[in-house]
Amino acid sequence: MTYETILVEQRDAVTLITLNRPQALNALNSQVLKDLSAAFAAYDADASQLCAVLTGSGDKAFAAGADIKEMVEKDAADFFLEDFFSGWQTGVVATRKPWIAAVNGFALGGGCELAMMADFIIASDTAKFGQPEIKLGVAPGMGGSQRLTRAVGKAKAMEMCLTGRMMGAEEAERSGLVARIVPAAELLDDALKTAQAIASMPPMATMINKEMVNIAFETGLAQGLLTERRLFQILTATQDRIEGMTAFVEKRPAQWKGR
Ligand code: CAA
Repeated sequence: MTYETILVEQRDAVTLITLNRPQALNALNSQVLKDLSAAFAAYDADASQLCAVLTGSGDKAFAAGADIKEMVEKDAADFFLEDFFSGWQTGVVATRKPWIAAVNGFALGGGCELAMMADFIIASDTAKFGQPEIKLGVAPGMGGSQRLTRAVGKAKAMEMCLTGRMMGAEEAERSGLVARIVPAAELLDDALKTAQAIASMPPMATMINKEMVNIAFETGLAQGLLTERRLFQILTATQDRIEGMTAFVEKRPAQWKGR
């Protein structure tokens, strides 16, 4: 498959996707959404690929937001009739297999929102997160007001949305927005190693673990606990569950079948 705005490569069982518009700080235009949707669909469909990493090219930015130069050309009817931003849900969030955002600089507006669509974020010590849409006369549109609030709580999310201020990597880790911070030079290696570790797990169990944690984000406790038990029970029907438990009892490494 050929892409205009991203680079995609496979490293063993890990798909590495790189946003590749460094001259525009990897701003997210409609071609980026098209390319990312195709890349995530290809990743989901390829049984040899078990984890993905998304990062930005250049030292400066993961992504500096939705493409303002594209948006400035549209009127309100265009945004409404295109159901602008809805494609991120179907093209990116709907990915069933795990993926990590390796945030290497600015993650602003849609860039912060895209990072928050990942299963978790590993940030370089130079990363900066923000929802500066208010300075453009708008507000987050790709999930920022919802996911940021759930991740860091109302006080910080409200302050960031209302002032547009950026949050550095340390504050982001302290606030629960990112899983881990690593020195900028080690970011990609670290994210790829983490992805390889996930890729070595039984694949159906990774997909179901992902689904379970996401349900905690989206439903109440009683519904979440019930869904967790049912998903756990479904996993017990897999060959990999028998293999995993038998291998433990027999004190040998498990051999996953992916079923
Ligand atoms: N859209 C389009 N182009 C962008 C962009 C964006 N979001 N962010 C940066 N660029 C472009 C700049 O226009 C510039 O291009 P030119 O060289 O052709 O002028 C190039 O990238 C480099 O940017 P700067 O010269 O501005 O770099 P800087 O180091 O001086 O500043 C920055 C970096 C602080 C990130 C600044 O670029 C900036 O503020 N960018 C916009 C951030 C923003 O407002 N993001 C939210 C967008 S709206 C949104 O995302 C809506 C939503 O909810 C989904």
